[in-house]
Amino acid sequence: MGYAAMRGSAVLLVGLVVAAFAGAAVGAGSAARLVPAMYVLGDSTLDVGNNNHLPGKDVPRANVPFYGVDFPGGPVATGRFSNGYNVADFIAKNLGFERSPVAYLVLKSRNYLIPSAMTRGVSYASAGAGILDSTNMGNNIPLSKQVRYFESTKAEMEVAWGSRKVSTLLAESFFLLSIGSNDLFQSKPKTPVDVVALYTTLVSNYSTYITELYGMGARKFGIINMGPVGCVPRVRVLNVTGACNDSMNRMAAGFAAAVKSGLAALVPTLPGFTYSLADSFVSTQASFANPQSLGFVNTDSACCGIGRLGAEDGRCKRNSKLCADRDTYMFFDAVHSTQRAAELAAQQMFDGPAHLTEPISFKQLAQKRY
Ligand SMILES: *[C@@H]1O[C@H](CO)[C@@H](O)[C@H](O)[C@H]1NC(C)=O
Ligand SMILES: *[C@@H]1O[C@H](CO)[C@@H](O)[C@H](O)[C@H]1NC(C)=O
Ligand SMILES: *[C@@H]1O[C@H](CO)[C@@H](O)[C@H](O)[C@H]1NC(C)=O
Repeated sequence: MGYAAMRGSAVLLVGLVVAAFAGAAVGAGSAARLVPAMYVLGDSTLDVGNNNHLPGKDVPRANVPFYGVDFPGGPVATGRFSNGYNVADFIAKNLGFERSPVAYLVLKSRNYLIPSAMTRGVSYASAGAGILDSTNMGNNIPLSKQVRYFESTKAEMEVAWGSRKVSTLLAESFFLLSIGSNDLFQSKPKTPVDVVALYTTLVSNYSTYITELYGMGARKFGIINMGPVGCVPRVRVLNVTGACNDSMNRMAAGFAAAVKSGLAALVPTLPGFTYSLADSFVSTQASFANPQSLGFVNTDSACCGIGRLGAEDGRCKRNSKLCADRDTYMFFDAVHSTQRAAELAAQQMFDGPAHLTEPISFKQLAQKRY
């Protein structure tokens, strides 16, 4: 039941605290950008439409109303698991882009991969994806394949532009990653020993993929760590009191701690490797504790859904109930954040309180020069 319902959708990682966003020049020229391009790898928290181009009836897709009900210029269901923009869009906006780079499979289908890769970036993120190939197998682009897609993108870029230009571009660009929740939910470790073994496998695989990206020229990694996944409506609804699942949260926190030490361990082995790790745990717990200060009146229910907590049927659909004031909800569907929650989370990662990112903020990461 619970875990099964989580399949195919990665879990939200929102974080918050009010932070005034000092308008990063929408529509301005590239001079306003902090980085030349952005490459995105991960799960449904970042997917901007790749899954719409995957075959199969069990592929998770946010391609129906009320997804995208508030999408700028919409309503239009683009594949984002949100009422509007997701966190990748807001990180991109903070970096000076209009929104997230376009999905890889969309760019391929339009024969526009290389122009986009050279001027804005590419998104490889896919809902349901995991660090392990076995996670939701056959219904997403697993991280290993996202890395291969990046590799082939890079090869095409080099043919068009030459390797010197491409390597400069990649070293300056921002690599945004968010993945792991789907692995945790699918794996269902039983004993504490299993749990530790799972962290070890996941972090070792994650480190391997990050090292491969580094080997292809990536230097700046903005990584969103796992948040309190035991508090999403889909999990809360399983408890009669609607409480968070503490054991799930402990597992997520353990994974987050393992990622943190795994990244620190990479630094001495990879010259020039820099990263910013966003602590979704602390930031999300802070907003659960003090939602009013952020303008939220509902932190436990899906805005779009059915039944108790709007979470009795995992997805948002045409016949779901839709809340009226989306900006006052933290969750849009039973797993993913609203556009407003994503915006606040991105502001925090980018330039929020220092303890929410380490060792530096996303903004400081973007400003590094090679
Ligand atoms: C990745 O995980 C698989 C289990 O799915 C494991 O067999 C393999 O050794 C891991 N690879 C790395 C590099 O840790
Ligand atoms: C439901 O949540 C409460 C905390 O409010 C907890 O004490 C209880 O053990 C939970 N029930 C189950 C079945 O996990
Ligand atoms: C909470 O999560 C654990 C797994 O970590 C699971 O065994 C348990 O059934 C969950 N409790 C509820 C009430 O869903």
